[in-house]
Amino acid sequence: MEIHKTDFLIIGSGIAGLSLALKLKDLGEVTILTKKRAFDTATALAQGGIACVQSEDNHFDLHIKDTLIAGDGLCKPEVVELVVKSAPERIKELIDWGVEFDRDPKNPQRFHLTLEGGHSRKRILHVGDYTGRAIERVLIERALHSPNILILENHLAVDLLLERNCSSKPCRVVGALVLDLIHSQVKIFVAEVIALCTGGAGKVYLYTSNPDTATGDGIALAYHAGVTIANMEFFQFHPTCLYHPKAKNFLISEALRGEGGILLNPEGKPFMHKYDPVRKELAPRDIVTRAIDMELKQSGGECVYLDITHLPSDYIKKRFPYIYETCLKFGIDITKDPIPVVPAAHYLCGGILTNIWGQTDIPNLFAIGECACTGLHGANRLASNSLLEALVFSHQAYLKIKEIYQDFKDNYNHLPKIKEPEVKEIKEEKIFISHNWDLIRKIMWDLVGIVRSIKMLEFAYKRIIFIKKEIESTWEGIYLDLDLMELKNITTVAELIVRSALSRKESRGTHYLLDFPEKSKEFERDTLIKG
Ligand code: SIN
Repeated sequence: MEIHKTDFLIIGSGIAGLSLALKLKDLGEVTILTKKRAFDTATALAQGGIACVQSEDNHFDLHIKDTLIAGDGLCKPEVVELVVKSAPERIKELIDWGVEFDRDPKNPQRFHLTLEGGHSRKRILHVGDYTGRAIERVLIERALHSPNILILENHLAVDLLLERNCSSKPCRVVGALVLDLIHSQVKIFVAEVIALCTGGAGKVYLYTSNPDTATGDGIALAYHAGVTIANMEFFQFHPTCLYHPKAKNFLISEALRGEGGILLNPEGKPFMHKYDPVRKELAPRDIVTRAIDMELKQSGGECVYLDITHLPSDYIKKRFPYIYETCLKFGIDITKDPIPVVPAAHYLCGGILTNIWGQTDIPNLFAIGECACTGLHGANRLASNSLLEALVFSHQAYLKIKEIYQDFKDNYNHLPKIKEPEVKEIKEEKIFISHNWDLIRKIMWDLVGIVRSIKMLEFAYKRIIFIKKEIESTWEGIYLDLDLMELKNITTVAELIVRSALSRKESRGTHYLLDFPEKSKEFERDTLIKG
């Protein structure tokens, strides 16, 4: 088996992985693995922007307060403070790397700041309505021009390798078993430090704003390596994804509500005043999502509508060019017509448990970005805090790695003995795999969605375990089939979400349980599952 040595192994090529690589390159050789193309990330789809205190009418305390309110009692205050106060420095770094945020047309010295749900002040920097794409481009470009960074596409990490004969826990991670999907080959990558930056897991649900790559790979890898996973019950549903039979995963940014967009029920009437009389459309996401869910259940309608036709047509086209063009392709002119929208799975607030340095239970294994649970988001993430979290924690991780990486220089000598795994081919029809994909996603959408009950969760759990056992017995080992390898990961993630949801007997943030509709003092703590 080919063994590749690198100083730092980063799995994932979104904002977390790339920004970490751009820092670590000065300490040693960095290898970034990505299972598809480098650009196929959730970062590249992010529309809204990055929250950062910039103007005089704003203050760190207000951003901290808004984050804590959205997080519904479960954020770690020290993490929130760190992230909010580090934001200006991290944004400056992004600008130095080449990201050009929109400027205020009246005062080009200043950034154009926008508003989203849960924010008490305008504090979101953006690049039109394609902020993530603009950032991803700049970071990839810089990484490609850095001699110390190697990006390997079509490489899927299938297992983390822990040190041989580890007697005292926690054991160190020494490398990863990686499937090269182009050359049908399993390789070993040995590294001093590994960082999981694999993004979210929206594909576990039938409807999602996430890219096809969001299959919770990092969480499954960490869980199977014995690492603690936290708060998986808190899956955030974005209130407004485009409702159209041909539109796949297309988000209608919360920034439209920030610009005064009004939600209308299927009868064409505003309804948010009934659910949150003060904040209305700009209430935190969990509240808006449940309000839409309720309106749809009561009316039997298929979608609600988001109306921004009060804004001048030219302004809409300039401010939201990507959304305007995409909707137009589906026959919807957003300058004239309300946009049909439905909620969809958007962001996993839980994930691999880390400390304030992005470090997991294993001292040389880090998790950054959506795959991590740092304590910033609590039970419900505040809009536009996700790209920010990735930036702040890649910096935190860099500081810690700089301090410890020399201790793991001898990792090669700790490699466990591994028999070369066979790369198997699928013998039967692929329908068995796609059917299980559909089943998991439908079970999760129908039974583990916006509104849950113990009965629904128990029903879902039995079915997921049945599918898991069937997959394990039918397709044990490594297959040259990305769909199958991802199916294994979404099944693990689905199981973790349901187990966590079953153990939290209260309603908080994005986790709403009909049997326990109130918050409980007893549950003001993380839900932990050790792999
Ligand atoms: C959006 O543009 O509505 C998404 C922003 C986010 O998820 O924070």
